[in-house]
Amino acid sequence: MGNTCAVILAAGKGTRMKSKKPKVLAEILFKPMIHYVIDACKGADIDDICVITGFEAEAVESYLESIGNFKIARQLEQKGTGHAVMMAKDFLEKNSGKDVLVICGDTPFINSQTLKDAHKQHKDEGNAITVVTAKLDNPTGYGRIIRNSNGIEKIVEQKDGNEEELKVNEINAGTYWFDVDNLIEALGGLTTNNSQGEYYLTDTIDLTLKKGKKVGGFTAQNSDIILGANSRKDLHALSEKMRLDIIDKHFANGVEIVSAGSVLIAPDAKIGADTTILPNTIIKSGVTIGSGCVIGPNSVVEDSTIGDNVILNATQCYSSKIHSNVNIGPFAHIRPNTEIKSVVHLGAFVETKNSVIGEGTGASHLTYIGDSDVGKNVNFGCGCVTVNYDGVNKHRCVIGDGAFLGCNTNLIAPVTIGEDAYTAAGSTITNDIPAEALGIARARQENKPGFSAKKLAGRNKKV
Ligand code: UD1
Ligand code: CA
Repeated sequence: MGNTCAVILAAGKGTRMKSKKPKVLAEILFKPMIHYVIDACKGADIDDICVITGFEAEAVESYLESIGNFKIARQLEQKGTGHAVMMAKDFLEKNSGKDVLVICGDTPFINSQTLKDAHKQHKDEGNAITVVTAKLDNPTGYGRIIRNSNGIEKIVEQKDGNEEELKVNEINAGTYWFDVDNLIEALGGLTTNNSQGEYYLTDTIDLTLKKGKKVGGFTAQNSDIILGANSRKDLHALSEKMRLDIIDKHFANGVEIVSAGSVLIAPDAKIGADTTILPNTIIKSGVTIGSGCVIGPNSVVEDSTIGDNVILNATQCYSSKIHSNVNIGPFAHIRPNTEIKSVVHLGAFVETKNSVIGEGTGASHLTYIGDSDVGKNVNFGCGCVTVNYDGVNKHRCVIGDGAFLGCNTNLIAPVTIGEDAYTAAGSTITNDIPAEALGIARARQENKPGFSAKKLAGRNKKV
């Protein structure tokens, strides 16, 4: 959609959340509510966005900075939705000749299709304002849409409405398309002449109609788009609703989710058919999982790409790539920037970080692989450690294809283990080992015959 821009209202405190955090940063499935609204705008090709900040403005602004490029206008005192939009005057003036979407930052179920369809109607009908509306069984609290034969006549707030008006069940979603120049003019005419003493954005309707321009209503097919959260309980209800919607989508795609009540999946996760998600599993944002995998129970995956037929049993995996046919867990920790090639097995209490682990390699128990380049078919005995940190700097270990590390080997980085080389169990390796050699770095064993006899006399055995 060319020639569009948006103003997102995000100055509100959200008193009932009882939080130091501004309401728009409250998260639904690991993502702040305002981010959903921004995604809906971006999905409707609206790229020029001005956000009105107020309560905890710095927190909102620094979050916005972390996710993209936004214009900011601060509303220091909250004197109503009309006043909030007035703060974007400079932004609106720069966008003269365009259409502006005005939308609240705390409605995570809004979607791009609704924004696009509403804009199309705005254009087709030649409106100066198009209000997105929804029909609710219980409209209490919302502004009511009063229509006449030409379109929308006015919006009446709950606190200002008479008995007849409050019976109307079509409500103002708080999302609108405005002709920018008409909006600038209408904002200039707003007053605080109402029961709340606020500048109502909705009063721009009357001012627009008085100029002989058209105001229309776009009724959203699904009233979920208006859902917002004012309290922790609301937030939970929204999270739960979104969680179930997402799980239904994966069911439809052929994913098996056992005991779905305990599984959380971020909206952007991609999961292949015939993958099974077991209980108490959390899949955060940025995750792609192939088909035929078993993820869980008790696993967390974030910002990672997982191939096909991968097992992640009671494992946490962050910002990493796992190829196909890999078997990990239970109780493994895959830390950022690990690449695990196919047919690798990592067993209990194995931790990895910033390493590449080659095809067919195994570390079955109690091993740390950090800052290392590990070849194919390497065997890590139980309790091996790449000693990558000297207290000041991190160094890398290089382990050649086919190397066999005996149990409890420490590799003091930087060090290189040649192809098919061995280490003796319990060795602390400080020097490179050539290919096919055995590195031993431990004291030779000495036995002292008859040693116990002297000791045993004074020893008190319990049983
Ligand atoms: C407003 C509409 C109402 C609509 C409802 C939908 C007006 C007068 N009324 O109600 O018709 O049904 O939204 O949710 O517009 N905000 C600011 N600065 C302010 C006031 C509000 O940024 O000074 C922000 C809030 O943070 C929130 C949004 O605007 O994100 C809506 O404000 P809220 O107070 O929830 O809406 P109402 O005015 O009750
Ligand atoms: Ca050890």
